[in-house]
Amino acid sequence: MLLEIAEVLNQAQLAKVNEILDGSEFVDGKLSAGRVAREVKQNLEMKKDSARTELLIRILVSSLAHNQTFNSAAFPCRMADPIFARYHSGMQYGDHVDDAIMGKSGPRLRSDISMTLFLSEPESYQGGELVIRTSFGISKVKLAAGDAVIYPSSSLHHVAEVTGGERRVALLWVQSHVRSPEQRELLFDLNQAREQLLAQAPRERSTQQVDRAFSNLVRMWSEV
Ligand code: NI
Repeated sequence: MLLEIAEVLNQAQLAKVNEILDGSEFVDGKLSAGRVAREVKQNLEMKKDSARTELLIRILVSSLAHNQTFNSAAFPCRMADPIFARYHSGMQYGDHVDDAIMGKSGPRLRSDISMTLFLSEPESYQGGELVIRTSFGISKVKLAAGDAVIYPSSSLHHVAEVTGGERRVALLWVQSHVRSPEQRELLFDLNQAREQLLAQAPRERSTQQVDRAFSNLVRMWSEV
């Protein structure tokens, strides 16, 4: 499932993140790329700086922790430290799949879900769409600053060449309690129906049956 999530960061958080990035040093993105990705990757990534990086991670992780759409779609178990990237005019990132195992320096995790959080307004740069191949064809994603897209990490994807302006994004990888993308999608759909039933008719027998079925499916399919 490819899912767009609006306003992961509000305007104040977005301004703070961009202010921190303005004063940060960036290095060649090839340094963090796997063997295949290195050949096609042209971007800049924020150099890890303990105080600044920690503050950015705190802003991002705390906003995701409170985001209901993210939590009910991703079932996050572990998250890799985000990467903050910049693409100037002429930069792009060719077709690749993200590394399966993340976290070279810290605790390791399996990447089930990839997230791109857009940090620049779409009209401030040309090109730079995230292009994801799904089983239903190709999706081109370019969202408002503060919005994010999540998609299965197994998907082939690329970033189209930026032909003007600067594209800024945060990238994040999640190990999910529910490994299968199909099962996560079913749970996401069922949970939306469940939430609606709980709000409209909390005491109905059918509401309780849907609620129980949802909980027991999560129990059946999750790993901790
Ligand atoms: Ni990628």
